[in-house]
Amino acid sequence: MNLSDDQYVESLYAEDIDLARVKAGLAANGMRDISVHAGYGRLLTMLVEMSGASELLEIGALGGYSGICLARGLGGGGTLTSLELIPEYAEVARVHMEAAGLGDKVTYYVGDAKESLEKLKQEERSFDFFFIDADKEGYPIYLEYALSMAKSGAVIVGDNILLRGRTTNPDKQGPAVQAVRAFNEAIASDERLRSTIIPGYDGLAIAIVK
Ligand code: SAH
Ligand code: DHB
Ligand code: MG
Repeated sequence: MNLSDDQYVESLYAEDIDLARVKAGLAANGMRDISVHAGYGRLLTMLVEMSGASELLEIGALGGYSGICLARGLGGGGTLTSLELIPEYAEVARVHMEAAGLGDKVTYYVGDAKESLEKLKQEERSFDFFFIDADKEGYPIYLEYALSMAKSGAVIVGDNILLRGRTTNPDKQGPAVQAVRAFNEAIASDERLRSTIIPGYDGLAIAIVK
Protein backbone atom coordinates (compact mmCIF):
# COMPACT_ATOMS: atom_id res chain seq x y z
CA MET A 1 0.00 0.00 0.00
CA ASN A 2 1.23 3.49 -0.87
CA LEU A 3 1.42 6.04 1.86
CA SER A 4 -1.02 8.91 1.39
CA ASP A 5 0.60 12.17 0.31
CA ASP A 6 0.08 13.44 3.85
CA GLN A 7 1.60 10.31 5.43
CA TYR A 8 4.53 10.53 3.04
CA VAL A 9 5.25 14.16 3.93
CA GLU A 10 4.95 13.51 7.68
CA SER A 11 7.26 10.48 7.35
CA LEU A 12 10.03 12.85 6.24
CA TYR A 13 10.01 14.68 9.56
CA ALA A 14 11.50 13.40 12.78
CA GLU A 15 9.10 13.12 15.70
CA ASP A 16 8.70 16.46 17.45
CA ILE A 17 8.83 15.70 21.17
CA ASP A 18 7.15 18.91 22.33
CA LEU A 19 4.27 18.50 19.91
CA ALA A 20 3.95 14.76 20.64
CA ARG A 21 3.62 15.75 24.32
CA VAL A 22 0.68 18.01 23.40
CA LYS A 23 -1.04 15.16 21.54
CA ALA A 24 -0.52 12.81 24.51
CA GLY A 25 -1.74 15.48 26.92
CA LEU A 26 -4.90 16.11 24.91
CA ALA A 27 -5.69 12.39 25.00
CA ALA A 28 -4.88 12.11 28.72
CA ASN A 29 -7.25 15.00 29.45
CA GLY A 30 -10.06 13.65 27.27
CA MET A 31 -9.79 16.61 24.88
CA ARG A 32 -10.58 16.11 21.20
CA ASP A 33 -7.44 16.68 19.16
CA ILE A 34 -8.38 19.47 16.80
CA SER A 35 -4.90 20.99 16.83
CA VAL A 36 -3.76 22.68 13.65
CA HIS A 37 -2.40 20.20 11.09
CA ALA A 38 1.33 19.46 11.49
CA GLY A 39 2.11 20.91 8.06
CA TYR A 40 0.40 24.17 8.93
CA GLY A 41 2.07 24.17 12.34
CA ARG A 42 5.45 24.18 10.62
CA LEU A 43 4.18 26.93 8.33
CA LEU A 44 3.09 29.04 11.33
CA THR A 45 6.62 28.89 12.75
CA MET A 46 8.02 29.95 9.38
CA LEU A 47 5.52 32.79 8.90
CA VAL A 48 6.33 34.22 12.33
CA GLU A 49 10.05 33.94 11.68
CA MET A 50 9.87 35.32 8.13
CA SER A 51 7.67 38.25 9.13
CA GLY A 52 9.83 39.13 12.12
CA ALA A 53 6.65 39.48 14.18
CA SER A 54 7.24 40.00 17.89
CA GLU A 55 3.74 40.45 19.33
CA LEU A 56 1.54 37.50 18.45
CA LEU A 57 -2.15 37.01 19.21
CA GLU A 58 -3.72 33.54 19.09
CA ILE A 59 -7.49 33.06 19.34
CA GLY A 60 -8.19 29.48 20.51
CA ALA A 61 -5.40 27.75 22.51
CA LEU A 62 -6.73 24.18 23.06
CA GLY A 63 -3.66 22.20 24.26
CA GLY A 64 -0.94 24.56 23.10
CA TYR A 65 0.01 22.91 19.81
CA SER A 66 -0.30 26.03 17.66
CA GLY A 67 1.00 28.11 20.57
CA ILE A 68 4.26 26.14 20.51
CA CYS A 69 4.49 26.48 16.72
CA LEU A 70 3.88 30.24 16.88
CA ALA A 71 6.21 30.94 19.81
CA ARG A 72 9.03 28.95 18.20
CA GLY A 73 9.17 31.55 15.44
CA LEU A 74 9.74 34.41 17.89
CA GLY A 75 13.07 36.09 18.36
CA GLY A 76 14.25 37.13 21.81
CA GLY A 77 11.79 39.35 23.64
CA GLY A 78 8.77 38.41 21.53
CA THR A 79 5.50 37.44 23.19
CA LEU A 80 2.39 35.37 22.51
CA THR A 81 -1.01 36.44 23.86
CA SER A 82 -3.42 33.51 23.70
CA LEU A 83 -7.20 33.68 24.16
CA GLU A 84 -9.06 30.57 25.36
CA LEU A 85 -12.67 30.13 26.50
CA ILE A 86 -12.20 27.12 28.77
CA PRO A 87 -9.97 27.60 31.87
CA GLU A 88 -8.92 23.92 32.02
CA TYR A 89 -7.79 24.07 28.38
CA ALA A 90 -5.74 27.22 28.99
CA GLU A 91 -4.06 25.38 31.88
CA VAL A 92 -3.29 22.34 29.71
CA ALA A 93 -1.86 24.66 27.05
CA ARG A 94 0.26 26.48 29.64
CA VAL A 95 1.70 23.19 30.94
CA HIS A 96 2.65 22.17 27.39
CA MET A 97 4.17 25.56 26.59
CA GLU A 98 6.26 25.32 29.76
CA ALA A 99 7.37 21.77 28.97
CA ALA A 100 8.51 23.06 25.56
CA GLY A 101 10.58 25.78 27.25
CA LEU A 102 8.26 28.52 25.99
CA GLY A 103 6.28 29.26 29.16
CA ASP A 104 7.90 32.64 29.70
CA LYS A 105 6.69 33.89 26.32
CA VAL A 106 2.94 33.27 26.71
CA THR A 107 0.10 35.02 28.54
CA TYR A 108 -3.37 33.45 28.56
CA TYR A 109 -6.64 35.37 28.65
CA VAL A 110 -9.42 33.03 29.76
CA GLY A 111 -13.03 33.61 28.67
CA ASP A 112 -14.92 34.48 25.51
CA ALA A 113 -12.39 35.80 23.01
CA LYS A 114 -14.74 38.65 22.04
CA GLU A 115 -14.53 40.01 25.59
CA SER A 116 -10.76 39.53 25.77
CA LEU A 117 -10.34 41.24 22.40
CA GLU A 118 -12.47 44.19 23.51
CA LYS A 119 -10.33 44.50 26.65
CA LEU A 120 -7.07 44.35 24.66
CA LYS A 121 -8.44 46.94 22.24
CA GLN A 122 -9.46 49.28 25.09
CA GLU A 123 -5.90 48.94 26.40
CA GLU A 124 -4.72 50.05 22.93
CA ARG A 125 -2.71 46.87 22.45
CA SER A 126 -1.48 46.13 18.94
CA PHE A 127 -0.08 42.98 17.37
CA ASP A 128 1.85 42.02 14.28
CA PHE A 129 0.62 38.43 13.91
CA PHE A 130 -2.85 36.95 14.46
CA PHE A 131 -3.83 33.28 14.39
CA ILE A 132 -7.61 32.86 14.30
CA ASP A 133 -8.64 29.32 15.30
CA ALA A 134 -11.52 29.47 17.85
CA ASP A 135 -15.30 29.14 17.34
CA LYS A 136 -16.05 29.44 13.64
CA GLU A 137 -19.10 31.71 14.18
CA GLY A 138 -16.72 34.31 15.53
CA TYR A 139 -14.35 34.45 12.54
CA PRO A 140 -15.74 37.65 10.93
CA ILE A 141 -15.68 39.45 14.29
CA TYR A 142 -12.17 38.16 15.01
CA LEU A 143 -11.02 39.46 11.62
CA GLU A 144 -12.42 42.92 12.37
CA TYR A 145 -10.69 42.99 15.77
CA ALA A 146 -7.46 41.84 14.13
CA LEU A 147 -7.67 44.64 11.57
CA SER A 148 -8.38 47.17 14.32
CA MET A 149 -5.37 46.08 16.39
CA ALA A 150 -2.95 45.33 13.55
CA LYS A 151 0.32 47.11 13.02
CA SER A 152 1.05 47.93 9.39
CA GLY A 153 2.34 44.78 7.68
CA ALA A 154 0.74 42.48 10.25
CA VAL A 155 0.01 38.88 9.28
CA ILE A 156 -3.46 37.37 9.79
CA VAL A 157 -3.90 33.59 9.51
CA GLY A 158 -7.19 31.67 9.80
CA ASP A 159 -7.48 27.88 10.17
CA ASN A 160 -10.23 25.51 8.98
CA ILE A 161 -11.70 27.74 6.31
CA LEU A 162 -13.06 24.66 4.47
CA LEU A 163 -14.88 23.22 7.53
CA ARG A 164 -14.25 19.65 6.33
CA GLY A 165 -16.37 20.13 3.22
CA ARG A 166 -19.17 22.19 4.74
CA THR A 167 -17.95 25.52 3.35
CA THR A 168 -18.50 24.35 -0.24
CA ASN A 169 -21.72 22.40 0.44
CA PRO A 170 -24.71 24.57 -0.52
CA ASP A 171 -26.99 22.47 1.72
CA LYS A 172 -25.03 23.69 4.74
CA GLN A 173 -26.33 27.07 5.88
CA GLY A 174 -25.70 27.02 9.64
CA PRO A 175 -24.19 30.00 11.46
CA ALA A 176 -20.62 28.63 11.54
CA VAL A 177 -20.65 27.87 7.82
CA GLN A 178 -22.13 31.26 6.92
CA ALA A 179 -19.61 33.03 9.14
CA VAL A 180 -16.64 31.21 7.62
CA ARG A 181 -17.89 31.97 4.10
CA ALA A 182 -18.15 35.66 5.04
CA PHE A 183 -14.66 35.51 6.57
CA ASN A 184 -13.22 33.94 3.41
CA GLU A 185 -14.91 36.54 1.20
CA ALA A 186 -13.49 39.33 3.37
CA ILE A 187 -10.00 37.78 3.30
CA ALA A 188 -10.13 37.62 -0.49
CA SER A 189 -11.71 41.00 -1.23
CA ASP A 190 -11.01 43.45 1.62
CA GLU A 191 -8.85 46.18 0.15
CA ARG A 192 -6.90 46.49 3.38
CA LEU A 193 -5.46 42.99 2.84
CA ARG A 194 -3.19 41.11 0.49
CA SER A 195 -4.01 37.42 0.82
CA THR A 196 -4.07 33.86 -0.32
CA ILE A 197 -6.23 30.92 0.70
CA ILE A 198 -4.65 27.47 0.59
CA PRO A 199 -7.17 24.64 0.06
CA GLY A 200 -4.90 21.94 1.55
CA TYR A 201 -5.76 19.99 4.71
CA ASP A 202 -8.81 21.88 6.12
CA GLY A 203 -7.90 25.14 4.43
CA LEU A 204 -5.77 28.05 5.62
CA ALA A 205 -6.22 31.76 4.96
CA ILE A 206 -3.07 33.91 5.04
CA ALA A 207 -3.24 37.69 4.74
CA ILE A 208 -1.06 40.68 5.37
CA VAL A 209 -2.39 44.09 6.31
CA LYS A 210 -1.24 46.59 3.69
N1 SAH B 1 -5.24 26.65 18.00
C1 SAH B 1 -5.30 25.32 18.62
C2 SAH B 1 -6.63 24.64 18.34
C3 SAH B 1 -7.82 25.45 18.78
S1 SAH B 1 -9.31 24.48 18.80
C4 SAH B 1 -4.17 24.48 18.05
O1 SAH B 1 -4.05 24.42 16.82
O2 SAH B 1 -3.42 23.88 18.83
C5 SAH B 1 -10.45 25.76 19.19
C6 SAH B 1 -10.31 26.33 20.59
O3 SAH B 1 -11.10 27.50 20.66
C7 SAH B 1 -10.82 25.39 21.69
O4 SAH B 1 -9.84 25.23 22.67
C8 SAH B 1 -12.05 26.11 22.24
O5 SAH B 1 -12.24 25.93 23.63
C9 SAH B 1 -11.71 27.56 21.93
N2 SAH B 1 -12.88 28.44 21.84
C10 SAH B 1 -14.10 28.14 21.36
N3 SAH B 1 -14.91 29.22 21.44
C11 SAH B 1 -14.18 30.22 21.98
C12 SAH B 1 -14.45 31.57 22.34
N4 SAH B 1 -15.65 32.10 22.15
N5 SAH B 1 -13.46 32.30 22.88
C13 SAH B 1 -12.23 31.76 23.08
N6 SAH B 1 -11.91 30.49 22.76
C14 SAH B 1 -12.87 29.73 22.22
C1 DHB C 1 -12.14 21.35 14.00
C2 DHB C 1 -10.80 21.49 13.68
C3 DHB C 1 -10.12 22.63 14.09
O1 DHB C 1 -8.80 22.81 13.79
C4 DHB C 1 -10.76 23.60 14.81
O2 DHB C 1 -10.05 24.70 15.13
C5 DHB C 1 -12.08 23.45 15.15
C6 DHB C 1 -12.78 22.32 14.74
C7 DHB C 1 -12.86 20.15 13.56
O3 DHB C 1 -12.30 19.42 12.74
O4 DHB C 1 -13.98 19.94 14.00
MG1 MG D 1 -8.25 24.81 13.76
